[in-house]
Amino acid sequence: MRVVFLGPPGAGKGTQARLLHERFGLAQISTGDILRENLARGTELGKQAEGYMQRGQLVPDDLVIKMIEQELRRVSGGFVMDGFPRTVPQAEALDALLTRRGTPLGAAVLFKIDRPSLVARLSARWTNPRTGRTYNALTNPPKVAGIDDEDGGELIQREDDRSETVEKRLEVYERQTRPLVSYYRKAGKLVEIEAIASMHDVAERIAAALGREHARQ
Ligand code: AP5
Repeated sequence: MRVVFLGPPGAGKGTQARLLHERFGLAQISTGDILRENLARGTELGKQAEGYMQRGQLVPDDLVIKMIEQELRRVSGGFVMDGFPRTVPQAEALDALLTRRGTPLGAAVLFKIDRPSLVARLSARWTNPRTGRTYNALTNPPKVAGIDDEDGGELIQREDDRSETVEKRLEVYERQTRPLVSYYRKAGKLVEIEAIASMHDVAERIAAALGREHARQ
């Protein structure tokens, strides 16, 4: 199964990508997590990406596409991408890469959710900066506030979850990423999921929809 997740910031893409990885063993490729890790390590890529990320803008396509090419070299089986592609040139580059490998994309899952729910989710999100695992103070709190259940380390609130940056990220999504909905619809690969439900129910909806897509191929 080769899947990409589409949807605005806070829609639950990272949460569901992790669940799909745990349930089906798919490799999880999260461009946001990879970029944040590069930022933390102070790599050249991290330095180049930092300003864009702080401002809530997209990192330039050429940098992200190169990063994805490297990630895909490590992956031989199925994968779920969360946060990529974000622009039409990124989607075209991914198609070209997968065609060269003879392993076309199976589906693009679109998370449908209203704006007030996104803002509420992001303002209550707590993240483990070491693993990318997220919690939510309202809907999915850790056992001890501010501490990760798994590794016992500190949780943080992402800098780009501040309200003014969230507004910018939502605007960038509408302008640069929303066109991917028609891109994948035209390709016959779009699967739409109502993302306002419990994490468990959203996971079930995705598994059922991907199962149907798989059976059709
Ligand atoms: P990135 O890290 O990809 O951020 P994003 O797409 O804005 O997505 P988020 O991580 O904010 O949200 P999510 O949908 O994963 O939601 P989550 O599961 O955490 O990108 C960050 C930046 O990196 C970008 O702004 C850009 O600068 C750069 N970048 C990354 N990829 C790029 C690319 N391809 N090209 C260029 N630049 C790129 O859930 C949110 C919250 O809701 C959590 O608290 C969670 O616990 C909770 N929650 C989840 N599901 C549910 C549910 N069903 N019910 C209730 N609460 C829920």
